[in-house]
Amino acid sequence: MRTNWKHNELIVIFILTVTIFLAVFVWGLGLFTDIEEEPYVSEETDRIVVGVSQLGSESGWRTANTESVQSVFTTENGYFLLFSNARQKQENQIKAIRSFISQRVDYIVFAPVVENGWRTVLQEAKEAGIPVIMMDRKVEAADQDLCVSWVGTDSRQEGVKAGRWLEGHLRREGVTEEEDVNIVVLTGTEGASSAIGRSMGFAEVARKHANWKILEEKCADFTSAKGKEVMAGFLRKYPDIDVVVSQNDDMTFGAIEAIREAGRTVGVYGEISIISFDAVHDALEMVADGTINVDIECNPNQGEYLSQVISMLEKGQEVEKDYYVEEDIFTIDNVTEEVLQERNY
Ligand code: AHR
Repeated sequence: MRTNWKHNELIVIFILTVTIFLAVFVWGLGLFTDIEEEPYVSEETDRIVVGVSQLGSESGWRTANTESVQSVFTTENGYFLLFSNARQKQENQIKAIRSFISQRVDYIVFAPVVENGWRTVLQEAKEAGIPVIMMDRKVEAADQDLCVSWVGTDSRQEGVKAGRWLEGHLRREGVTEEEDVNIVVLTGTEGASSAIGRSMGFAEVARKHANWKILEEKCADFTSAKGKEVMAGFLRKYPDIDVVVSQNDDMTFGAIEAIREAGRTVGVYGEISIISFDAVHDALEMVADGTINVDIECNPNQGEYLSQVISMLEKGQEVEKDYYVEEDIFTIDNVTEEVLQERNY
């Protein structure tokens, strides 16, 4: 009898052990499914190891930004690149950064999907002695000291440029300050510094014009599908929209589709003026044919700048806190055949 009981007890212990082992295994899998697998970094590599956490692949602009980084951090240029795509999730970026820290990379480059919530992980990188460089977007001001540098575009200034263009456009069209101008704004990812900056900059100019009525600002996540959905909603709600400010080209493509499906016309020769941001090739073609009135460039070619910052750090030189890439404004007057041919994204 006693022997039987001992036998049963052993079976229960065995089942419990297997269950616990499986639970820990499955939990571990869940933890890592959302980030791309990173190659093992050899301790002996004499190349500069850079961990890049890209926020996602939501737009044509983002694809160009990723290509710019990947074309610079190559073996031929003396780098070993660990690249991770966070698919728009901050938690994936945090996991990727932690993984870079545990692999003891030489530098971490990341495009923060939103501004807030980075302090702990950036502190961990600092304690590990790994310099962090932000690209494209920024973390909130209070945490920027945890990063050695930033390379990107001036999003507030981009918003100001959009506002100034509208001032000039209305003047040229003979619209007086007594006539209402009805504006809707499609904003990018909530909490993203580029969306915040563009809204802020445009609002700075809009505040000076009592007749500019911002009917509504709504997030369309920097994607074409959302741009179409949000714009369709605006059109149902507001019958007399004069201007659409769309904070990136992908949302603009969707918005234009929605406007056309609603039987309205856009652009230089149409009823609704379109202000867009990014200036990717397909959008510039639409500027050239008058579909989009103005495109405020946001330059994704940031890889070269990042590599220069790293080579300065390697030489022990001081680097600037901010590096702004060059940006232009495009209208039907300056999108030439040459501009279109040179645009590589
Ligand atoms: O942060 C830059 C913005 O992010 C670009 O304007 C947009 O296309 C991208 O998704």
